[in-house]
This record gives sequence, C-alpha cells and structure tokens, in this order.
Amino acid sequence: MKIIEVLKLEAKEQKVILNGWVRSFRANRFIALNDGSTIESIQCVVDFEKYDEEFLKQINTGTAVSIEGTLVPSMGKGQKLEVTVSDIKIVGLADPDKYPIQPKKHSMEFLREKAHLRVRTSTFSAIMRVRSFLAQSVHQFFQQKGFFYVNAPIITTNDAEGVGEMFNVSTLKVGDKDFSKDFFGEKTYLTVSGQLEAETYALGLGEVYTFGPTFRAENSNTSRHLAEFWMIEPEMAFYTLQNNMDLAEEFLKFLLKNTLENCRKDLEFLNDYHLKEEKQKPERDRNKLSLLERIEFVINNGFKKISYTEAFEILKNCNPNKKKKFTYPIDKWGVDLQSEHERYLVEKHFECPVTLYDYPKEIKAFYMRLNDDDKTVAAMDVLFPGIGEIIGGSQREERLDVLENRMNEMDIDKKQLWWYLELRRFGSVPHSGFGLGFERLVQFTTGMSNIRDVIPYPRTPQNASF
Ligand code: 4AD
Ligand code: MG
Repeated sequence: MKIIEVLKLEAKEQKVILNGWVRSFRANRFIALNDGSTIESIQCVVDFEKYDEEFLKQINTGTAVSIEGTLVPSMGKGQKLEVTVSDIKIVGLADPDKYPIQPKKHSMEFLREKAHLRVRTSTFSAIMRVRSFLAQSVHQFFQQKGFFYVNAPIITTNDAEGVGEMFNVSTLKVGDKDFSKDFFGEKTYLTVSGQLEAETYALGLGEVYTFGPTFRAENSNTSRHLAEFWMIEPEMAFYTLQNNMDLAEEFLKFLLKNTLENCRKDLEFLNDYHLKEEKQKPERDRNKLSLLERIEFVINNGFKKISYTEAFEILKNCNPNKKKKFTYPIDKWGVDLQSEHERYLVEKHFECPVTLYDYPKEIKAFYMRLNDDDKTVAAMDVLFPGIGEIIGGSQREERLDVLENRMNEMDIDKKQLWWYLELRRFGSVPHSGFGLGFERLVQFTTGMSNIRDVIPYPRTPQNASF
C-alpha cells in the first residue's frame, strides 16, 4: 500500500504492507519510511529485541525495505499514525559509508552531481510531484475547453523562430557535408518550437495545443535557460491578440490554483524550505512574499497589460537602483528588453505579473502579425516575478502578401516553408497562439531559483551527463 493512502486511514489496528526506502533509522527502533508517494514519511516502530544486531545494521538511510505491520495511533509528536512492525524484509542494501544522500542538508550543486539519486530527497521529490501535477493540469485545462492535443514533430527541417539556434540531426560521417546523402535527404534539426505545425492543425481543428520537448542551441548559461526544455503551445483559429492574452492569463491562473489546491503538502514543504533559505540572505535581498503568498498573489490579481512603447517610456525614465542604470541601456525605441528590464517592470514598478504587447517588428519573429503602424507586431510576452518571460506569443500574420514581405525582409526561406504559406492561400483566418516554458512554470510554482533543479536531467552548455 502507498503511504499516501495509508495516511488517510483510521488507525483501527489495520494490517499494512509498505515498500519504500529508509530515510532515517533512530535508536534501532524508529524507521522513517518514505515511498515517494507523498512528502510525508511514516514512522515504523521496530521491536529490536526480536532481531539480531547484524540484521539491524543493514537498515540504513537509503536501504530499500518491505515492512509488514499494524497501523496504530502515534504517541510521537507531529504525526497521527505509525506502524508497529511485525516483519521487515531487506530488499536492497545501501552502504552507509558510500550512499551520498544522508539525512542532512545537501547543497543544490552537490545534488546536481547526484542527479540519479536526488529525487530521494524531500525537496526534489516535492518538486517532481508538483511538476507531474502541473503537466496533468495543462491537459485538464485544455481538454475541458475542447482543445485537441496534437504532437508536432521533434525532427524537423525548419527553424520556426528563425534565429538559427538549432541542433543538427544527422547520420552522415564526420566531414561529409552532402546532406542529400543524409538520412532524410536534407538538413534536419531538433525542433525549437512546434508552432508552425500547430498552426496548420488549428486551421482544421479550431483549437489545439502541443506539449513536448523543444531544443535550443543557445549558449546561455543562465538560471532560466535549458538546451532541452518542454513547451506548451496552444494555437487558436479566430483568436485576436486580446483573446490570446486573456487565455494566457486564465491558463496560468488555473494551473497555479489547481496545483495549490491539490499539492498543498508539497508546496507547504517548499514554502518552509525557501523561508529557511531566505533567512541566510541579507535583508534587502529577501523576497517580500513567501512562495505560497507569491502563488496566491498571481491567482488573485489581474496581470498588468501594457504596450512595449509604454514599457519603454517607463524604463527610459526610471532609475532602477539609484547608483547604477541597467547593464543594457534603454535609450532608443526598438531595443530588445533584457531580463533585468522585464524584472524591473514586474518586481519594482508594477509589483505584479505584466503582459507586454505590440513589440517592434525588428526584435520579433517573422510570423507575427504586422500592426497598422507598420512598426510593431501583435506580439505578447507574459512576465513573472523572479522569472521574467514565462510566455511568449502573438497573433499570426494571416495575410499572404504581408507574410511574404516579412519573410523577404528577414531572409527566411520561403521555398522551405511553402506549406506554411499555403495556409494563407486556402481558407486563411486570423489566428493566435503562445508558448509556455514548462520548466519556467515549474520554477515559479516551486520557487526554485535555478532551472536545473526543476527537470530530472538538465541539458545545458557543456553538460549532458546522465
Ligand atoms: O518566446 P519563445 O521563443 O516563443 C516560441 O517559441 C513561440 N513559437 C511560441 C508560440 O507562440 N507558440 O518561447 C516560449 C517560451 C518562453 O516564454 C520561455 O518561457 C520558454 O519558452 N523558453 C525557454 N525555457 C527554458 N530554456 C530556454 N532556453 C527557453 N527558451 C524559451
Ligand atoms: Mg520569447
């Protein structure tokens, strides 16, 4: 029986069988057993006189055991139930001199090097349960709304974002550049986004979403970038930019509310974990709100919606930290916003999530719809506290001639994207969509400061271990 189920039972002298891993073994008597089903371990009380010492010595942190016993009310503090052990079987040993995960605080850096074992800590198991719940909530949200789940290809010939940050996929021998002899007969890559394919499906199924792995060979070693990350990309026919922004806000609020209601214990654990971490920091660097308060704040407050131009005016005239201006100056209309600017708007100026829209066309992708001013496109980014950009999206250019012009200007290969252009030839309609970076969402929900700690095996420059 799983511990999460056992903890819901009444202690009426019930027999239970539990399989799990020993978190700690105190005084040859108290085993804290965890099986991963919940943050809580259950106390199993051993009558040590029944066992010889050699046997008990094998029960260490990390040992896998199968325990039979009776569920009884606990006399100990902090727990309602415990198990009086009638039989213990050792399933798998863990040598205490070699097993690296001990019942003490390990640094995140240390645990990244033990990525195959870190899920056996309370912190990582909580993060991974929350991650799993968020993933199902994504499906729940869209399925309830009648969206269809589609799978875009992972191997592709196109650069959906047009920025050339792709990993090659090839079976050619090193040095051979004749791609006509390659596996697919042309150059192929790992996808950076499933959007273009999702658009084709939205223009047949109406409302669709993808949820899959995406890959970017950008050399950014930050706490918010991965080379392999998961993205959710809804795409909707007949949606304007305004509809798109409203959906993004509703979606994020649903995900957070659902998770807060259903992953309460894990989030409370993470909340306490972060409160302890915060205490180590100087006062001025501390978060004003706790993790739970931040989540509740986002659920209960409207996102501020402003145009790039309005944001530009705020940033140009502000003085972020008295002495020093931004590292990347905001002086000319049209400059791209960096994470420092995004976070200033969210954390200092508005103190709430912000949706920025109508960006200069020069800093956005070719497929975004050109506005009447001829200078901006119908783009939108959702910016979150502590994270910066969590969603990027737009209304798509549905007019064939305008799209072709943009592709020419931006040097995008029209021949290769012939099928994408055909969408605008046959039954073209206004349509919109966005991409939510799943790991950034997990980061916000769990409060983890480094994106490497919210995915089992992070892929970053110079690192693909495990
Ligand atoms: O803003 P991006 O590049 O947008 C697209 O890919 C569009 N095709 C989406 C669409 O309209 N269908 O990426 C979307 C989101 C970002 O807002 C960010 O949350 C996340 O994906 N993201 C990353 N997450 C982790 N590591 C990276 N290297 C990321 N790059 C983008
Ligand atoms: Mg973006």
